[in-house]
Amino acid sequence: MMDAPGSYRINIAIDGPAGAGKSTVARLVADALQYVYVDTGAMYRAVTLMALEAGLSPEDGEAIGRLAQRLHIELIPGPDGQRVLVDGRDVTDRLRTHEVSRTVARVAGIGSVRKRMAELQRAMAEGKGVVMDGRDIGTHVLPDAELKVFLTASPRERALRRYRQLGEGAGVSLEQLEREMAERDRLDEGREIAPLLRAPDARFLDTTGMGIDEVVARIVEWSREAARTFSEKEK
Ligand code: DC
Repeated sequence: MMDAPGSYRINIAIDGPAGAGKSTVARLVADALQYVYVDTGAMYRAVTLMALEAGLSPEDGEAIGRLAQRLHIELIPGPDGQRVLVDGRDVTDRLRTHEVSRTVARVAGIGSVRKRMAELQRAMAEGKGVVMDGRDIGTHVLPDAELKVFLTASPRERALRRYRQLGEGAGVSLEQLEREMAERDRLDEGREIAPLLRAPDARFLDTTGMGIDEVVARIVEWSREAARTFSEKEK
């Protein structure tokens, strides 16, 4: 265990574009600090999956907003990573399909969906000791997070990581992934509500060419610094 029990707990926001390694890094940082990891992208993916299953068009913001409002989404930590339950059903293995990935940015652009997800996410972070990754965590969901990190990598490296994650692309070429990633970045950065933005007080970390351990160690070190600073302030 790397953290003393009972030591000051903070919230950590990790934002950045697709494929920057946020979820892997956030999970490992949470493990190292014995914090809870919250994958907010998985929540948008869960809403997208349910909308696709219900036959809703991604353009039908009203219907998808109503759906998001009534879905019960739970994130359960487990030995093989976090499981996502929707209305009690484990949908984890279906959240990273090409169809969901292709549609999710449009669902994540629906105001009522974002509002609902942000409420759920804030409730999860209330007790502190949370590492939350997404696009708008430091800017919008947890503006008071004691540590904010903006994680990125070159577009080529990000597409390559996704390619490997899918199992050598699973029928999708690297070039196509790179194009789709650029399109997703464009939608995430350009949307009016809670766009992907670096919070002015976020630490910037370009992970191109960096190993995961190195990235995790850097963020864990920053977390300790932040915890010390904030616990001093409260004294
Ligand atoms: O991180 P990811 O690839 O699982 O995210 C899926 C999509 O959800 C992506 O298009 C960005 C969007 N998203 C978002 O808009 N806000 C968040 N906090 C997390 C993800």
